[in-house]
Amino acid sequence: MAGYEDFVHLDYKPKKTDLIASFHVKAPAWSTMKRSCGAVASESSVGTWAASVTGLKYEHVQKVAGKVFHIGNDGWIKIAYPQDHFEMGNMSQILASIAGNIFGMKAVESLRLQDIQWPEKIKKSFPGPQFGISGIRKIFGVKKRPLMLSVAKPKVGMTTKEHCEIGRQIWTGGLDLLKDDENLTGQKFNPFERRVTEALRIRNNVERKTGEKKSYLINVTHSRYKEMERRAKFVAKHGGEYVMLDIVTAGWQATHSLRELCGDLGLAIHAHRAFHGAFTRNPEHGFSMLAVGECARLVGVDQLHIGTAGVGKLVGSKEEVITIQEHIAEEPQILHRNKYRVHLSDRTVKADPKLHTLDEDWGNMKPVFPVSSGGLHPTILPTVLDRLGIDVMLQIGGGIHGHPKGSYAGACAMRAAVEAYMDDISMEEAAKKSVPLKQALDFWGYTRPR
Ligand code: 6PG
Ligand code: MG
Repeated sequence: MAGYEDFVHLDYKPKKTDLIASFHVKAPAWSTMKRSCGAVASESSVGTWAASVTGLKYEHVQKVAGKVFHIGNDGWIKIAYPQDHFEMGNMSQILASIAGNIFGMKAVESLRLQDIQWPEKIKKSFPGPQFGISGIRKIFGVKKRPLMLSVAKPKVGMTTKEHCEIGRQIWTGGLDLLKDDENLTGQKFNPFERRVTEALRIRNNVERKTGEKKSYLINVTHSRYKEMERRAKFVAKHGGEYVMLDIVTAGWQATHSLRELCGDLGLAIHAHRAFHGAFTRNPEHGFSMLAVGECARLVGVDQLHIGTAGVGKLVGSKEEVITIQEHIAEEPQILHRNKYRVHLSDRTVKADPKLHTLDEDWGNMKPVFPVSSGGLHPTILPTVLDRLGIDVMLQIGGGIHGHPKGSYAGACAMRAAVEAYMDDISMEEAAKKSVPLKQALDFWGYTRPR
């Protein structure tokens, strides 16, 4: 028999070849913790409600079954899955097991997958990011400051001409990258091809004028992969460096396939996470943003939105966002009195028992460039940088295009704020030398948008 309790093996010592998942389980009043935890291991691996299924007895089936090997008094548990349970290089299959039916089972009142520890063989079966932080920095020739992006606002509705004019203003004002928003793809008022050719033409002009490298995160998201492929090839043909993808609405198959294509085209992938809040937000139920970030690193995106560490308009505490950063990239490099904190490692990350995260050794897999975004404006950037360090991309929409003097002034204010931070100068001091920064400071102060 393999009833739910048979999937609990508290004396089991996990092997290096096991995938480990850290879950929080709340058992319903009618169940026991042991039964509910066993139900999670069973349904996420080989079992079902009927313990009498003949094949459950087979040794070769038990060999690939999940085992609950730790149940804490606080509801935090760990399950080990033998790596042979999984198909290598297939994220959709892996998640159909460890993050599949289990979230909807009556056997749990709530269930949260917090973190995953990946065995070497599974990690090696995925491509990982093509560029890594240093590869992306090389595109811009910018070694130390944070990179600066702006998403055009209004999100959708503007004509191609209006959209590209925003690009001209933010690039000229000193930012590195223009970004499409998650819901701008190829609508009739701003068709994809026209936007790409027009924006890249303006980009080339601004590069000539400023002598700085500029780029554009072009949203190629489409629910038909063939169309996405056509759009990515179009971007490459017209001299773009990047595509942007809504990785959650497009899915892992789209992300992984686009990674393969972008490897051939030499394009970097900017990952937007729209929709993740539907399953990451409730701390007691669902799949954490940390786990989304790890899957995205494996499948190979180059940049990912992770939040603002408690400052901006989206949920995600300081602690939570720093942890995501550590797992997808590295220990934050905090600039302090113009010195960089000792760099610990971008390879290994230690388990945090308070947050119920797990150890990871990323080996040679490149890091993902973390993007901080959502409700930022120039004068609160220093707080984000104090928390996340300088190896981040700062992404601002409303805090640039809502500047009282418009997008160009907003971009100048952002650049001045970042440069002041790098020179260890306060915003008030820097505002004496930058009119746009002074205007932003007078307009927004240090407001934290909600
Ligand atoms: C994210 C958000 C964010 C979004 C905002 C930024 O996951 O980080 O989706 O990136 O694109 O639109 O714009 P504001 O600066 O105006 O908040
Ligand atoms: Mg992990």
